Amino acid sequence: MTGLLEGKRLLITGVITDASIAFHVAKAAQEQGAQVVLTGFGRLSLVERIAKRLPQPAPVVELDVQNQEHLDTLADRVREHVDGLDGLVHAIGFAPKSCLGEPFLDAPWSDVSVALEVSAYSLKSLSVAALPLLGEGSSIVGLDFDARVAWPAYNWMGVAKAAFESTNRYLARELGPKGVRVNLVAAGPVRTMAAKSIPGFAELEAGWADRAPLGWDVNDATPVAKSVCALLSDWLPATTGSMVWVDGGVHALGL
Ligand SMILES: NC(=O)c1ccc[n+]([C@@H]2O[C@H](COP(=O)([O-])OP(=O)(O)OC[C@H]3O[C@@H](n4cnc5c(N)ncnc54)[C@H](O)[C@@H]3O)[C@@H](O)[C@H]2O)c1
Repeated sequence: MTGLLEGKRLLITGVITDASIAFHVAKAAQEQGAQVVLTGFGRLSLVERIAKRLPQPAPVVELDVQNQEHLDTLADRVREHVDGLDGLVHAIGFAPKSCLGEPFLDAPWSDVSVALEVSAYSLKSLSVAALPLLGEGSSIVGLDFDARVAWPAYNWMGVAKAAFESTNRYLARELGPKGVRVNLVAAGPVRTMAAKSIPGFAELEAGWADRAPLGWDVNDATPVAKSVCALLSDWLPATTGSMVWVDGGVHALGL
């Protein structure tokens, strides 16, 4: 049987540990026949070590989305490993301490602007950087946390995710005519390094499993990874600018 992503060449950002959602996406994608290139931020030797734990060790190219030179040279550096891309995964989020858990009213713009640049604007800058490699029929997928409502502690990261969701829609409008789809997976809480840095994460994840009609395991990123793979595949060919909830069904409920 051929895999869902047989022959697809994917660029996957956001691996920092083997708990990273991006690590599980890369693993599931390779299991479905994809060829994967990773990007790493900061601690490159750590990312390279984690990349060796994938079913097939994946090459790592350096990318800080706040570094214009990294963005400008990304396509050429990725081309050293693959001759083009069929898919791109954005799994990048960061907000300074004052933006998460601290009083919402106190975060200064200098911090909020970093959260917005790294967590929302980067969907645009990464997509533009990779565009020379993305052919007709390719797919961009971002990782979201439902920003329609206010959550405990999530604060300015929630505002950044709202901007991320809007960026997804505008990018879909801009890239659709080039045959490129852009979609988000709105995941339920998963215990990763980024999640643990949210002071109120325990409160966020508490009760999720009880509320979710399908149940939910905060230690299992596989359902999220599989859903990202589905969006990267050829099986949602007319879907763009959308947000797919992968949260056990919590988003559909009131109380
Ligand atoms: N864990 C959850 O509960 C959850 C739920 C919904 C959505 N998400 C989203 O999933 C994505 C991945 O997060 P995760 O939970 O796997 O955590 P993670 O800590 O494993 O990944 C976050 C990644 O962002 C990268 N990053 C931070 N600043 C960067 C920069 N300037 N340039 C490039 N990369 C940078 C880090 O290196 C890291 O790899 C994030 O967008 C996050 O908001 C997470």
